[in-house]
Amino acid sequence: MVTRVLFVCLGNICRSPLAEGILRRLVEEAGLAGSIAVDSAGTGGYHQQQPPDPRSCDVARKRGIRLDDQRARQVEPRDFHHFDLILAMDSENLRDLVEICPRALRHKLRLLRSYDPEASPEGDQNVPDPYFGGRTGFDDSFDMIHRCCKALLESLTPPNPPAN
Ligand code: 4NP
Repeated sequence: MVTRVLFVCLGNICRSPLAEGILRRLVEEAGLAGSIAVDSAGTGGYHQQQPPDPRSCDVARKRGIRLDDQRARQVEPRDFHHFDLILAMDSENLRDLVEICPRALRHKLRLLRSYDPEASPEGDQNVPDPYFGGRTGFDDSFDMIHRCCKALLESLTPPNPPAN
């Protein structure tokens, strides 16, 4: 069985492409490419068909991950049926998803940072939008998204059964 994960931000050019690239890499490293499928999309359609922001591409390339082949797209109604887990980068993205998601499928929606081992449940659960900031914001986004994706992957892969 394949588990399908969709990452969602506003423009699908900064944060969710990073999450897509990072989780795909972790999945490949774990030998699970046939079991976990990864995609990303934006709640907005302003950047449709554009490649990720060069600052996201640069920060990912520094860590050996290529985003260049990705193209931005907007969330579509069928995504709510197709994907098993739909992970929003911030509470605004989540609110926008809740508005358009059929009620019976809302259990698929979560904040990515609900997986963050460093986030306090009462604290900020957003991946801050780095679009209007400088390059260090993209490094911070990468680190935050990376640790969330590691924890996410652990949650999707049951621990090995004890050896006899
Ligand atoms: P993203 O960042 O949601 O992480 O892709 C943004 C990209 C573009 C815009 C805002 C945020 N924009 O206003 O065009």
